[in-house]
Amino acid sequence: MEHNWWKESVVYQIYPRSFNDSNGDGIGDIPGIIQKLDYLNYLGVDVIWLSPVYQSPNDDNGYDISHYDQIMEDFGTMEDWQNLLEEVHKRDMKLIMDLVVNHTSDEHEWFQDAKKSKDSKYREYYIWRSGKNGKEPNNWGATFGGSAWKYNEETDDYYLHLFSPKQPDLNWENEELREDIYAMMRKWLDRGIDGFRMDVINFISKTPGLPDAPKKENEVYGSGGQFFMNGPRIHEFLQEMNQKVLKDYDVMTVGEMPGVGVEEAKKYTDLSRNELQMVFQFEHMDLDSGSGGKWDLKTLDLKDLKESISRWQTGLHEIGWNSLYLNNHDQPRVVSRFGDHDNYHDKSAKMLGTFLHMLQGTPFIYQGEELGMTNIEFDSIEDYRDIETINFYNEQVHEKGRDKNEVMKSIYTKGRDNARTPVQWDDSPNAGFTTGEPWIKVNENYKKINAEKALREDQSIFHYYRQLIRLRKEHSVIVYGDYELILPEHEKVFAYTRSLNDEMLLVLTNFSDDTVKINVPDIKMTNSEVLIGNYEDQEDFQSQLTIQPYEARVYKGKCI
Ligand code: NOJ
Repeated sequence: MEHNWWKESVVYQIYPRSFNDSNGDGIGDIPGIIQKLDYLNYLGVDVIWLSPVYQSPNDDNGYDISHYDQIMEDFGTMEDWQNLLEEVHKRDMKLIMDLVVNHTSDEHEWFQDAKKSKDSKYREYYIWRSGKNGKEPNNWGATFGGSAWKYNEETDDYYLHLFSPKQPDLNWENEELREDIYAMMRKWLDRGIDGFRMDVINFISKTPGLPDAPKKENEVYGSGGQFFMNGPRIHEFLQEMNQKVLKDYDVMTVGEMPGVGVEEAKKYTDLSRNELQMVFQFEHMDLDSGSGGKWDLKTLDLKDLKESISRWQTGLHEIGWNSLYLNNHDQPRVVSRFGDHDNYHDKSAKMLGTFLHMLQGTPFIYQGEELGMTNIEFDSIEDYRDIETINFYNEQVHEKGRDKNEVMKSIYTKGRDNARTPVQWDDSPNAGFTTGEPWIKVNENYKKINAEKALREDQSIFHYYRQLIRLRKEHSVIVYGDYELILPEHEKVFAYTRSLNDEMLLVLTNFSDDTVKINVPDIKMTNSEVLIGNYEDQEDFQSQLTIQPYEARVYKGKCI
């Protein structure tokens, strides 16, 4: 298998608004990030992915960009950003930027001009349609609620927005738009960045005609996914982007792709096709939702997780490359989600980290994950900041009259603000995140869970993550080894092997609070020793093993 630096890297995602505030305005900023680079370097990560820091009115916290070449004032200046890049590189780390080009902000000058007149130079940069029988052009719903179309008075027609009305979709059919995007990308790459994470990049090609979507009887809007996810020209656009921009730089690329399956992902990540290197897929993040979508709560069945992860591990093997993640700024905290933050906080956080970091692919850590930060439960909807959460609440409680407590339960379990509370640096007021009033409340458990304490305690989740990251650098079997699922039917233990030449790993992770005995199937491994684990007493490798609640144990040995 081809060896590449980005396969051997561990990435750390920063959501700047919530990371570290240097000037007391309650909002994280770029100088605040610089102050913490030594911390990240000590953790051992290789690459930092910065969620958007561009100018934005913050309807969706920076995922609505009004100027691609300016830094959001709340976060600092272009000089601060240059400084950040330099300081990252000085520490031998890399920096990748978020590329949000499925849509802009409605405050972007292209849209401001486009909406004024049908003759605007930028008119074709967006997707406009006339109304149908006095209503929207089609029945698609937007991700953040309501119709995906908004009426524009000046031109007496509608524009498409798959997210909020303040995020109009760009028209990738238009060549001039594409050239402008490529020029913008080159500009950032020429500044010396090391790659892009591409926001909903598999949404950029829409099916011509934008047909009505299938709709459930009780729903007002249809779900148009099949007409914009992995659309007809997506591979062509990505190949063009590669040809016109990416091929000239040695950079990392990962495309966020809701609705992507293994077969499509092979096409996106097969290097010989010259598209991207990795995708963020969502299958494993959808396993704890019912048919009603994200807010429809369901308990994870471990067998579903095994089936999905294994299909991706073997599916992309030797063809493409997996990204590995359990957290990001859109997902609840994994220790609260698949672990047990009340009774097995440290153990389950370490178990989940082990499970992920021993897989084949490039691991992505989300800020605070290395501390085991947990979900939050604010009493009042007034304390929430996320547009998706607030719209969901209003729609369910105010429009549909659903029980408030039931709706809050979904928000507590799945809301994006779970991931967006400030990073807990120490036990001083506001967890040391800011000296001012934070833009969103700090999780009240910060006296127990914070970085300063984690650094001090050598058994902390932080130090365990350091070890996981270091092991990946020391053992190429972790990066390149073949994956094989064992005990597929076991309901509590997720177990798999990795093997490369004569080296072998056996990874055992207990996703339950029961002590379980397992019969290890016939694995041809000798000279095995425990490489890493989250319990102190470790059994020697033998045919029957006892796995403690939320235990993670990795044996390393030689293949016979
Ligand atoms: C995916 C991003 O991760 C999310 O935060 C954002 O709301 C949407 N794309 C729209 O840009």
